[in-house]
Amino acid sequence: MSGLFGYTGAAGAFDHILHGLSKLEYRGYDCAGISLLLNGEITTQKVAGRLSALGEPTALCPELKQSTCGIGSTRWAPGAAAQQSDIPPYGTARLSLVLSGMIENYRELRAQLSGEGYAFDSTSDGEVAAKLLDWLYKGNPVEALAKANSMLQGSYAIAVLFADYPHELYGVARNSTLFVGRGEGESYVTSDLSALVEFTREYDTLGKGEVVCLSPDNIRVMNQQGNLLTRETQTASQDLAQVRKGGYRHFMMKEICEQEQLLAEMLRSRIFKGLPSFDRDGLPEGLFTRYHRVLILGCGTAMHAGALGKEFIEQLAHISAEVHLAAEYRFRDPILSDNTLVIALSQSGETSDTLSAMRLAQSKGAKVLAIVNVPGSTMAREADYVLYAHAGPEISIASTKVFMLQMGVLYLVAIEMGRTHDIIDDSKARDLVKALLEATKSIGQVLEQNEQIQKQAREMARTQSVYYIGRGLDWPMMMEGSLKLKEVTYIHAEAYSAGEFRHGPISLVAPDFPVVALATQQMLIPQMLDNIREIRGQDSNVLVICRNSLSLDESLEQSAVRLPDLDDLFMPIPAAVALQLLAYYTAVAKGRNVDAPRHLTKAVTD
Ligand code: M6R
Repeated sequence: MSGLFGYTGAAGAFDHILHGLSKLEYRGYDCAGISLLLNGEITTQKVAGRLSALGEPTALCPELKQSTCGIGSTRWAPGAAAQQSDIPPYGTARLSLVLSGMIENYRELRAQLSGEGYAFDSTSDGEVAAKLLDWLYKGNPVEALAKANSMLQGSYAIAVLFADYPHELYGVARNSTLFVGRGEGESYVTSDLSALVEFTREYDTLGKGEVVCLSPDNIRVMNQQGNLLTRETQTASQDLAQVRKGGYRHFMMKEICEQEQLLAEMLRSRIFKGLPSFDRDGLPEGLFTRYHRVLILGCGTAMHAGALGKEFIEQLAHISAEVHLAAEYRFRDPILSDNTLVIALSQSGETSDTLSAMRLAQSKGAKVLAIVNVPGSTMAREADYVLYAHAGPEISIASTKVFMLQMGVLYLVAIEMGRTHDIIDDSKARDLVKALLEATKSIGQVLEQNEQIQKQAREMARTQSVYYIGRGLDWPMMMEGSLKLKEVTYIHAEAYSAGEFRHGPISLVAPDFPVVALATQQMLIPQMLDNIREIRGQDSNVLVICRNSLSLDESLEQSAVRLPDLDDLFMPIPAAVALQLLAYYTAVAKGRNVDAPRHLTKAVTD
């Protein structure tokens, strides 16, 4: 995975590109590179490691800082340290190219180009794209890019510099988003809106087969045939402060703390006369009455939000709902009918597994409602209906606030489905909406438990393996809690349904193998207490996270983390915060790189 950024204007391109790329580092931070045009020549500089190394005085010839046109990229290169030839940009003497996404048919193209006399220094698909473009380039960049775009397969956004055009940048995209933005006498191109809003809010995105040419004073979008298209620019609503850390030590903590306000704002924007309302989202009237089955798709944290959403929908609307791992579903031969609504969940809107699963469902005739966070993302554009999570940019690789906001959207969808399927009447729906809004306050109440959670996190930091158990809604919640711990601390954490726990997993429990037990579901408290007693009987430590009203033995009470008492249905809201904080503080205690854990990337696009 990688992020790209390009600049052309009157000021120094290097500083602009470095700043733009710094906002994209979460997309890949194993290596970075930049190409600058000066006096008709392209100079490329690459570093293995963090982007900051590019900014070191020795990294760049000082004269190059006068360049006013260039492109750059950060890249995720898991495994061995990146070789210089693998690091973007890629190119020839005539052009330089950066790529975000993946070219699927690069092996075939590489073989074809080898036959044309091209040699390759890397195994990268980006190098193949650069050499393909060089082969097609006969002096007209738009023609060459349009032709290349028709030959390349996959999901990608590309930006290119041509030595013959010293003040221009070019771009194309397929199944992925390329953003272009205009400032005062300068233009930008990037794979990520949160990098663009550092410089300008006026932006446009490229459609299929379109080619863009950016100069300092102009942005021209052309179709495959090279005809100029008329476009209206859009205005980004992202707040600059949101993409900065604002006083917090880590983005993860900042994003955990933002949840109460964001959730309340998102809910209020979708409530009209006390009931859920998706009018402003453009959902057709009566959409939910058409469907009698729901199929939810997602990966990682998004799938966990979906697993909770399934429960909300079944409880409130009595509609059969299933949740599937998109990475598995995409390779199935699915059984879908007209009465099934597919819900695709994603923060980035670019996750290739979820995109493929969603496209498969669409190819079988199903309609897809995407619940995504990134505006204008591929999923948002390809879905039949879209509900944005409205969480703002999520920079920390471990997702927190988007999970919370996805749950919030799913609560509203479930209430609306229940109402429109006559399972709950308007009065009950209003009560639920009111209780949901009220539940947002529990987020702040859990944050006040900071000290107790930090204390438990210091204990947790000493362990190598831990089980996370729960029943009912607490089980999918623990799937998310254990993923969060794993991601940011590298501690082995596994989630089990507490009922299933006795059928095998409990054999590992020992004094050095603790268990975190979530007990928020009132009907299931007796069974949870049985589980806890049984685990204690093996001399294992149990950290209980439970509702305030639950009385515990004194020995358990000392370590317990208490959550505000809410209706069972809304307990995942405070529970999520407690589990996020536990993971965060354990990672801090272990000295981990909280916002950018090893081997992980914000969106898995290839
Ligand atoms: O962008 P998406 O929501 O589609 O990403 C899905 C997963 O890759 C993502 O949730 C991943 O599990 C995160 N690292 C969770 O913190």
